[in-house]
Amino acid sequence: MDMRNELLRNLKNRKPGYGLEQAFYSDPDYYRLDMENIFYRDWLFIGHDCEVTKPGNFFTVQVGDYPVVIVRDRQGQIRAFHNSCRHRGSRVCAAERGTSAKLVCPYHQWTYELDGRLLFARQMGDDFDPSQHSLKPVHCESVGGYIFICLAQNPTDFSATRALIEPYLAPHKLTDTKVAYQSTIVEKGNWKLVWENNRECYHCVANHPELCKTFPEAPSVTGVQGAGDDPEIAEHWQRCEAAGLPSTFRMSDDGQYRATRVPLLRDSESYTMTGRRAVGKQLSDIVNEKRIGSLLLFHYPTTWNHILGDHAISFRVLPLGPDETQVTTKWLVHKDAVEGVDYNLEELTHVWTETNDQDRRIVEENAFGIRSPAYEPGPYSTEHEGGVLQFLEWYCRFMEERLTGGDTRLSKVA
Ligand code: FES
Ligand SMILES: [Fe+2]
Repeated sequence: MDMRNELLRNLKNRKPGYGLEQAFYSDPDYYRLDMENIFYRDWLFIGHDCEVTKPGNFFTVQVGDYPVVIVRDRQGQIRAFHNSCRHRGSRVCAAERGTSAKLVCPYHQWTYELDGRLLFARQMGDDFDPSQHSLKPVHCESVGGYIFICLAQNPTDFSATRALIEPYLAPHKLTDTKVAYQSTIVEKGNWKLVWENNRECYHCVANHPELCKTFPEAPSVTGVQGAGDDPEIAEHWQRCEAAGLPSTFRMSDDGQYRATRVPLLRDSESYTMTGRRAVGKQLSDIVNEKRIGSLLLFHYPTTWNHILGDHAISFRVLPLGPDETQVTTKWLVHKDAVEGVDYNLEELTHVWTETNDQDRRIVEENAFGIRSPAYEPGPYSTEHEGGVLQFLEWYCRFMEERLTGGDTRLSKVA
């Protein structure tokens, strides 16, 4: 049986409320289908506007087989291109980030404008037409300081995503921030295990002593039920909304993304060991309300986020292989905040550096156990693991739709 049908059959036969079969977490063919049908076709959070503030600023990223470069052009627009030279295909930008007046391929110096046009190719003959050899564009949208790209030639409409998340992000003015610190770790586990672990806090009390000082593990906070019937959360939403901060729980109809604002424990204001702010200069000069808790935002398959009063933390998930996933964390602070004056890097990053490492170990142990021939999917806790069930429901429905929805050939991908 071909892999597509096998995967589909496995999706259909899945036991509701249980984990997935082993192949979903380890099989290279299943991984390839995940990449082709999700990562190469959907909108992916990739970085922040504040990482490319000036024309010529760029950063690069690898999504599966696709190297991509994101650049701010001369008109101030953020653009994304396939990072593959139109001459012989070399990577045009090899650095992780940088600034360049033009994009010059290091191999034979073909030179591209920041908008992708080929400006110069030495001695290619009279009949060579540079206009036919621009860098190939990648769809790119920026919303509330977040850059999303889509590798598909015909991407799905981004406007619904924009409409839901923009009001939540707007007051935090994340375009006026800078990355105070970033870390990239590799977790030896399938990307779905990284997400499953992220979507519940059932594991928090036993594994995250630092995070548990401030972040509530209650399923009404971390889950996907809406939580309006939790009086503490209802009160929090009311207070924040009165201060002009959209806060109530909202999820897209297809379950792919969600925004909600939750209180932290005991009036904590930030993810620090004391619960006090890590950054003296507030993130946004229009958010003056104290104790706004954390704006939680996820967008499958690449990002979850925490936006606080003093800083914001974004997480980017990119698969590297069937059992390897890269997780990049960025700590954003106000662009004028000064290290050593307004914040101390160790204090700012301590809780999530520890938490990430703890989660890495959890995911790796999980992956280890799942690779055992003795593994069989077990039941999730409906009370604590509603978020995991929701993630899997999204994944299964999404894959089923893509695999049965007619034309899913790779030729649809740029
Ligand atoms: S491959 Fe880029 S200039 Fe030759
Ligand atoms: Fe965790």
